[in-house]
Amino acid sequence: MLILLGPPGAGKGTQAQSLMTKHGLVQLSTGDMLRAAVKVGSEIGRQADALMKAGALVPDEVVTALIEARLEFEAHAPGFIFDGYPRTRAQAESLDALLAKHGMKLDHVIELAVDEEALVDRISGRFTCAKCNEGYHDRFKPPGQEGVCDVCGSTEFKRRPDDNAETVRARLAEYRAKTAPILPYYEAKSLVARVDGMADIADVTEAIEAILASDAQTAPA
Ligand code: AP5
Ligand code: MG
Repeated sequence: MLILLGPPGAGKGTQAQSLMTKHGLVQLSTGDMLRAAVKVGSEIGRQADALMKAGALVPDEVVTALIEARLEFEAHAPGFIFDGYPRTRAQAESLDALLAKHGMKLDHVIELAVDEEALVDRISGRFTCAKCNEGYHDRFKPPGQEGVCDVCGSTEFKRRPDDNAETVRARLAEYRAKTAPILPYYEAKSLVARVDGMADIADVTEAIEAILASDAQTAPA
């Protein structure tokens, strides 16, 4: 059970996808859940749409309700990767209560540390497969064959409406003001491991794998 914490473009979604494939963990991305709600035009989606386009956080109770529903739905999963949640102190406290209710516990909070100058570059080059949601980047992670998804073979791709320079600045400001301050909450519980998010994608994955492998070595027989 781990949290991937880092600013917009840090690589949370990218790393969550490889961890899912390798460890069978379930990715819980509140950003993806909210985008799905916007797409179907639900009440939550209507509330979230303008806030997301402005780069502002959606209210705590809305995202916590989404996470609670998914935890209950996937109660038998081998473990979860929280991607983009929690983002405020109130969300962190709600998550603790939810996990306790389900008899689960967090193993790690992995902080993806990145230089802010790299983020606009990363975000403006990002696109995803419209069919299976695999993430790509124009320069850093292009598909093997141009215009064809490596995973499902689709030729349709999409870009996010909040991936523009102005909104990224607002998202970064929200991260600094509300999300980075939750690190001490987890440091006090000795859960935080810092990973260099500026390394190549595969090296970041390897660093995270090493943290997970250290659990296996220290677990009681
Ligand atoms: P969300 O969807 O969570 O967006 P975010 O936090 O801004 O993060 P991103 O998804 O932009 O970045 P990422 O870290 O996943 O990077 P990625 O792996 O794609 O949230 C969107 C909005 O929803 C929020 O603004 C808010 O309004 C709302 N929201 C969501 N959750 C909420 C919550 N809990 N509370 C309140 N509101 C909430 O990588 C980016 C690009 O870089 C990709 O193209 C990738 O290929 C490339 N890349 C990745 N790693 C590397 C690397 N090491 N080297 C080179 N390129 C790399
Ligand atoms: Mg993401």
